[in-house]
Amino acid sequence: MYTAYRHEPFTDFTKEENIKDFQQALEKVEGYLGDDYPLLIDGEKVTTDDKLVSYNPANKEEIIGTVSKATPELVDKAFDAATRAFETWRHTNPTARAEVLFRAAAIMRRRKHEFSALLVKEAGKPWKEADADIAEAIDFLEYYARQMIELKQGKPINSRDGEFNQYVYQPMGAAVTIPPWNFAGAIMVGTTVAPLVTGNTVLLKPAEPTPVIAAKFVEILEEAGAPKGVINFVPGEPSEIGDYLVDHPKTSIITFTGSRATGLRIYERAAVVQEGQQHLKRVIAEMGGKDTVVVDNEANLDTAVDAIIQSAFGFSGQKCSAGSRVIVHEDVYDEVVERVGERTKALIVGDPASKDTYMGPVVNQKAFDKITGYIEIGKEEGRLITGGDADNSKGYFINPTIFADAAPDARIMQEEIFGPVVAFAKAKNYDEALDIANNTEYGLTGAVISNNSEHLEKAKHHFHVGNLYFNRNCTGAIVGYHPFGGFKMSGTDAKAGGPDHLLQYLHPKTISQML
Ligand code: NAD
Ligand code: ALA
Repeated sequence: MYTAYRHEPFTDFTKEENIKDFQQALEKVEGYLGDDYPLLIDGEKVTTDDKLVSYNPANKEEIIGTVSKATPELVDKAFDAATRAFETWRHTNPTARAEVLFRAAAIMRRRKHEFSALLVKEAGKPWKEADADIAEAIDFLEYYARQMIELKQGKPINSRDGEFNQYVYQPMGAAVTIPPWNFAGAIMVGTTVAPLVTGNTVLLKPAEPTPVIAAKFVEILEEAGAPKGVINFVPGEPSEIGDYLVDHPKTSIITFTGSRATGLRIYERAAVVQEGQQHLKRVIAEMGGKDTVVVDNEANLDTAVDAIIQSAFGFSGQKCSAGSRVIVHEDVYDEVVERVGERTKALIVGDPASKDTYMGPVVNQKAFDKITGYIEIGKEEGRLITGGDADNSKGYFINPTIFADAAPDARIMQEEIFGPVVAFAKAKNYDEALDIANNTEYGLTGAVISNNSEHLEKAKHHFHVGNLYFNRNCTGAIVGYHPFGGFKMSGTDAKAGGPDHLLQYLHPKTISQML
């Protein structure tokens, strides 16, 4: 029997013993930097000459590890293994499948600081963000395991006299998991184990900047008892194996989280039926965001300032949920801009391995170029309040940047920048603020800071986002508490960490027997 689900607590880094434990974890990770990691196909470790190299974004000279790259031929082998393993795994008692996740959660909890420390090094996450990412990874394991146990009987349906009807769920086949690098712990784990616990088998292709943490997690799944062929690890360049994985006739499910451009490409390609394919592919595509914090004139401005800073600059704004646009009622606009500007100037930017760092680097040169490009656009489109400068001599550091007085249709108000850049626009009244908030092609998260209950009620109906938050930041959804996913071009709204998520990986089946 298992206890009721509660989310994993966050570590209190004001406590000396936690600081010491985390520093020891960082030392442990430093001890294995540069190691080489194989693929996993049918339970066998496979090493190739061609490697992905993972670097520390805070110190581009430092190699986190090298990881063998899969070729299309190796992907074929992984599909063969996954298809074979499916025939047994699909009939394995769902409780036994859930127990693999419970054991993996226990192992990960025991090594929690080590995994967080690895994220500090590989993804450039400050301690607190890394700790939250790994807590979320553990939550996905615990939550989806319980969800599967609840689903295993199916759902009740009616039976007429002389009839016995059942409604049960069946897995679909081989799933391809394609996660992003920005929640290299949580989303990688969640999108791997959701198909797995539902009885599907998995080919995991990690994001190129963060393959080492994925390799370590695959080791945990093996240790936790995932049978051979059930989890296959196939890292590689998307240009070499991305389309191949998506197009493959043996792919039944694609669970993707990443950018709008990649998501749309996958969605479209997966619709094409390949030779020998006898099923439609199921696509879960969770994509980008351009998320808004709305500040009303009847609002606690301390709450507003906290919410804006956390939403815009947590993990350097590299969250799909990041609040990268702020719409403020004209009565309080100047005060909010000034106070956010002052607080932002005091944020500590630097090496995430140092305890007091608030904001580390962005992930790589490509991200650095894209974000600094948007900063130049922002200088044309808005009034620079703070930041606007960057330094990539050692790592990819960009100072937190604020632009005021942006037009609602400015590019910095419309396009996902995915970095520490936030734009402010002024609204004449609350209704106009909501209209501006809705005027992007995305619909992922949003926050309203207001003490007016009618205004909050109105937002429930008119603010078109999948995750709507009142009087708090628009980031930091917790598994089982804030199921996560967005509308419009933010994706399929699969609500990761929610009570319906596992249904995405299952076929419901009706069985009717005459008695
Ligand atoms: P990305 O689209 O570049 O990459 C995501 C994944 O897709 C990676 O594993 C990558 O290797 C793979 N990929 C790239 N091209 C591919 C192809 N042609 N075929 C198959 N796979 C391919 O995104 P990213 O830079 O890793 O992540 C940032 C993006 O993710 C942002 O847009 C962010 O908003 C979004 N995101 C969304 C959510 C959400 O839940 N909605 C959560 C986190 C991140
Ligand atoms: N779950 C992450 C957040 O809410 C994406 O910020």
